[in-house]
Amino acid sequence: MTPLRPSAPNIIAPRDDARDFLLTERDFDRIRALIHRRAGISLGSHKREMVYSRLARRLRALRLNDFATYLAVLEADESCDEWEYFTNALTTNLTSFFREAHHFPLLAEHAKKIGRPYSVWCAAASTGEEPYSIAITLAEALGDRASTVLATDIDTQVLAKARAGVYTAEQVSRLSQDRLKRFFLKGTGQRAGLVKVKPELASTISFEPLNLLAPDWGIRERFDAIFCRNVMIYFDKPTQGRILERFVPLLKPHGLLFAGHSENFSYVTRAFQLRGQTVYELSPPGARTGAP
Ligand SMILES: C[S@@+](CC[C@H](N)C(=O)[O-])C[C@H]1O[C@@H](n2cnc3c(N)ncnc32)[C@H](O)[C@@H]1O
Repeated sequence: MTPLRPSAPNIIAPRDDARDFLLTERDFDRIRALIHRRAGISLGSHKREMVYSRLARRLRALRLNDFATYLAVLEADESCDEWEYFTNALTTNLTSFFREAHHFPLLAEHAKKIGRPYSVWCAAASTGEEPYSIAITLAEALGDRASTVLATDIDTQVLAKARAGVYTAEQVSRLSQDRLKRFFLKGTGQRAGLVKVKPELASTISFEPLNLLAPDWGIRERFDAIFCRNVMIYFDKPTQGRILERFVPLLKPHGLLFAGHSENFSYVTRAFQLRGQTVYELSPPGARTGAP
């Protein structure tokens, strides 16, 4: 084990003896710069413990002795496979079914007004609870197979979980019995206590990796709604502004943009105007440019 030197000024003091590695201020700054450049994520200094524990696991798996060697691997090759693990390790994936529940009746109402086929892009899908909540809402509003959901996330590990569509009873405990019966299969035997999304619902969603910072998203369709919730909070204001402007040509003229509870886009761009609680619509074409 590397000897710990908590008294050295540039060393982040370890909290316990179980620590295997030293995370220097310089290492931490390099990590912050790398994840910001790659994913837009701004990590505050209070995230040190989280960064240490998530990346230390990776160092152990790779049998590396220190963070500096690990970071040199990333810095040496922008396209090496390790970037995927690094990015997956540093994302925050908290989500739940029908989170920010007030959005879903609005989505249902909008879908009924627009009619089928109705399409949604869920741009930070995490482990799938959000795109499945969208698909359930649309199936209830429009009937089966009347809608499509594109569900994307930068984190390939959470996307794999989303694609599998398997959840614990606790994770679906707030769904009504009707929804559970209509949209989920109950696990038996070794899978008792788990549920799996039914194939009919799952088939309306496609899961794809996508970095919101990437110069080309490769999306060629336009959507009736975009859900981009609880991801912009990790980005700085200029990054938020650039992403929001890139949403404009991807929304149909009547389209809606759903944001997270602490995300206020009115201060970021004039491209969108508030229509309801954290729900936006496109501003009239003549009013979309200029500082907000
Ligand atoms: C806190 S979760 C929010 C999940 C869901 N939208 C919700 O509101 O419940 C944030 C998600 O954003 C994803 N994310 C972070 N940076 C991203 C980026 N640059 N491009 C795409 N997704 C990103 C993370 O991997 C994570 O799954």
